[in-house]
Amino acid sequence: MAISGRRIVTFGLIMTAVYILINVCGVSKRVKDPSDPRCIAKGSATFEELDSMQHFSLDYPSGYIYSKENTKWLEILEKSLYQPGKESLNVFNETYPLNMNMRELVNTYKNGGYVSPLKVNEYPFRFLWNPTKVCENGQKVFLLFIIKSAIRHFDRRQAIRQTWANQELYNRFGIRRLFLTGIMRGQTRFHESLRDEIIYYGDTLQIDFVDMYYNNTWKTRGGIKWAVNECKQAEYVMLVDDDFYVASDLLVQLLHTAGRSRDFYMGWMNGNPFPVRNMRDKWFVSKRDFPYPVYPDFINAGAIVMSMDFVVDLHIASQYTNHFKFDDVFVGIVASKLKVTPVSCNIFTMVKILFTADRFWKTLVSHEYKPKELLQAWKCHVLISKHGLDSSIDTS
Ligand SMILES: *[C@@H]1O[C@H](CO)[C@@H](O)[C@H](O)[C@H]1NC(C)=O
Ligand SMILES: *[C@@H]1O[C@H](CO)[C@@H](O)[C@H](O)[C@H]1NC(C)=O
Repeated sequence: MAISGRRIVTFGLIMTAVYILINVCGVSKRVKDPSDPRCIAKGSATFEELDSMQHFSLDYPSGYIYSKENTKWLEILEKSLYQPGKESLNVFNETYPLNMNMRELVNTYKNGGYVSPLKVNEYPFRFLWNPTKVCENGQKVFLLFIIKSAIRHFDRRQAIRQTWANQELYNRFGIRRLFLTGIMRGQTRFHESLRDEIIYYGDTLQIDFVDMYYNNTWKTRGGIKWAVNECKQAEYVMLVDDDFYVASDLLVQLLHTAGRSRDFYMGWMNGNPFPVRNMRDKWFVSKRDFPYPVYPDFINAGAIVMSMDFVVDLHIASQYTNHFKFDDVFVGIVASKLKVTPVSCNIFTMVKILFTADRFWKTLVSHEYKPKELLQAWKCHVLISKHGLDSSIDTS
C-alpha cells in the first residue's frame, strides 16, 4: 500500500481528537445532570462511575447476571424466539419470476451441475475497496456484522467501533465487523476522508452504486456477496444499520443457546406484510413490480441475523429472482422461494429503548441511537453486566 506510516498515524490522531471533541465532551455534559434517569443500576453505580469509565471493556465479574447459572436470563433467551409454521410460506405461492424448485436449483448449482434457467439478476456493481483483512487467513469467526452505513456517518461508525463491535469482542466472542457504503456523486470531500478512514481501519467495503434509499437492495446483496466470497468461515452474519445498538455478547449467547446453524433467518418479523399501493407513500409498490396482495413473512430491515448456509443460498437464489427495491422484502421473497421461514425474536426492538436498567438489561437490539447515545447505552450495558441489577428493580 502506497501510504506512509506517518500519514496513517497523523490521521489516527486527528480522528481521535475530533471524536473526543464530538462525543466524549457531549456525554460528560449529559452525565452531570443528576436527574437523568438513564441506566442507574440502583445501589451499584453512580454517574461519577459512569463518567469515569474510560474503556468499554467487558471485564465480566464472577456474578455476571447473564451467566448460564442465571436461569431467568436463559429463560428469557429461550422464550424470545418464535417461528410461524411452514404453512405461512404458502401465502407466497408465486413464481417471481421462475416457476421452479429453488432449493433444487441452488443444490444443483452448489454441486457444479447444469442449471438451465438464465440468471435474471446478476450482481452488477464493482467492489471499489475490498477489505480482505477482516476475515483473513480463514481465522475462526463466529458472528460477522455487516453494518450498512452512509459515507458521511463517520461518527456513527466510530461509536460502533468503540462499543458493540469493538476489538476486544473480536477475540473474546469471535466477532468481526464490516461497514458497507456506496458512493456519492460530486462529494469528493467525503470521499477523501472515507478513503483515509478505509485505509486506517481496514473495515469498510465500498461498492460503486450511488448510495440512496432505493438502492438498499444492492447494498444488502453486495454485503451478502462479500460474506460468501471473503468470510465463508463465519457461522452467522448479521446485517445491521449504523444507528443500532446491539448487545453483541448476549446475541452470541443467544445464538449458542438456540443452536440453530441451518437455515436460520432471525430478527423482528414485520407483522404488516402488505404492499402499499398509495403512490405518495415512501413504501409504494406498483402492481407491475409486485402483483400479489401480500408479501411473504420477512424480517424487518435494520437487524437481520442469518446462518452462513442461508447466506450462501441467498446469494445464489438472488441471481434467479427479480429485483425488488426494499431489501428486507427482497430477502423475504428469496427466503420463501427457498422454503426458509423467518424466526422472530421478541427482544429485538425497532424503537429506541431508553436505557433505564430494568428495561435495558433484556434488550438485545434496539434502534435510533445517535453516536453519543450509543456510547451511553453501551456503558449502561457494561455496568449492568458488571454490577447486576438492584433487587428493588422488577426484572420479571
Ligand atoms: C400453491 O401451489 C401448489 C402447487 O402449484 C398448489 O397445490 C397449492 O394449492 C398452492 N397453494 C396456495 C395457497 O395457493
Ligand atoms: C442506484 O445506483 C445506480 C448506480 O450508481 C444509479 O445509477 C442509480 O441512480 C441509483 N438509484 C437510485 C434510486 O438512487
